[in-house]
Amino acid sequence: MEIKEIEELGKKAKEEILASQNLKDLEAVRLKYLGRKGSLTTILRGLVNQPEDERRVLGRLANTLRDELTALVDERKGLLAEKEEVQPEIDITLPGRKPWMGKIHPISQVMKEICEIFIGMGFKEEVGPEIETEWYNFDALNIPKDHPSRDMFSSFYLEDGSLLRSHTSPVQVRVMERQKPPIRIIAPGRVFRPDDFDATHSPVFHQVEGLYIDEGVTFADLKGTMREFCRRMFGEGIAMRFLPSYFPFTEPSAEVAISCVICQQEKGCSTCKGTGWLEILGSGMVHPQVLRNCKIDPERYSGYAFGLGVERIAMIKYRIDDLRLFYENDIRFLEQF
Ligand code: PHE
Repeated sequence: MEIKEIEELGKKAKEEILASQNLKDLEAVRLKYLGRKGSLTTILRGLVNQPEDERRVLGRLANTLRDELTALVDERKGLLAEKEEVQPEIDITLPGRKPWMGKIHPISQVMKEICEIFIGMGFKEEVGPEIETEWYNFDALNIPKDHPSRDMFSSFYLEDGSLLRSHTSPVQVRVMERQKPPIRIIAPGRVFRPDDFDATHSPVFHQVEGLYIDEGVTFADLKGTMREFCRRMFGEGIAMRFLPSYFPFTEPSAEVAISCVICQQEKGCSTCKGTGWLEILGSGMVHPQVLRNCKIDPERYSGYAFGLGVERIAMIKYRIDDLRLFYENDIRFLEQF
């Protein structure tokens, strides 16, 4: 056994450690030199048979080499392990994933569109509370306590006698109470009625209320404004008509209908129930008693009001036959808007 022999072995072992390309190969190299039957181990073990002074010199050399090789194997192991962990997880051939883009809900979009049309005609946006008193939801609007017309707006009551508003008309009263005419507002918002949840009803839905009060406002102003709204919302080709109706807070009252966008009034379809017309809103001249309730002189001022259902407008605009689709939050439906 010679010094040179050990040095040769050390050199070869270092080269092989550094040349190993994966953990498996490295482990084979380690066993070859440092394992229980490895060549360096064998040399160390064989030293006991050597003469005393040779044993000391060779022993020191072999021990130092063993420490060096062990350290080198550890270092190499760290490097290869890192490479093997990261590499299989990154597949650069996979197509990229697009980040998920959120959108405004179709009902909010349509509500905004409606409001913008009226804002363009000089209306100002107002909001009111969703929890109302009976005064604002009914009495001030000329809907008497035991009058059957109160059933038109059946409601969710809270324990203290207040209620979830059944329409946006109470905002009319709140604005008239605190503002002098001229008043020209629209009030978008959520309303609540204990209805079944079906293709055309929901216990929670949305309305946009409109109110215009000034000296000399007539039914012709209402008609012109509704005409313009329908044109902007549904396009030039749309026809519009007024139907006599009844609301306790308007006199006279009218419902506005547009020509059916589905059958174009040609054959009469299930959406317009064969009539060729789709009702889209309720309206009328503000009842003198409502003006008096808000301390506005009906001899001097007059005005009109209207209230439209946002879901209904959205269903007509996008030809949707089931209102529940808006609330199910199925991304495949929502992302089309
Ligand atoms: N508030 C009525 C409803 O919810 C709609 C309406 C508003 C009618 C304003 C006339 C005037 O049905």
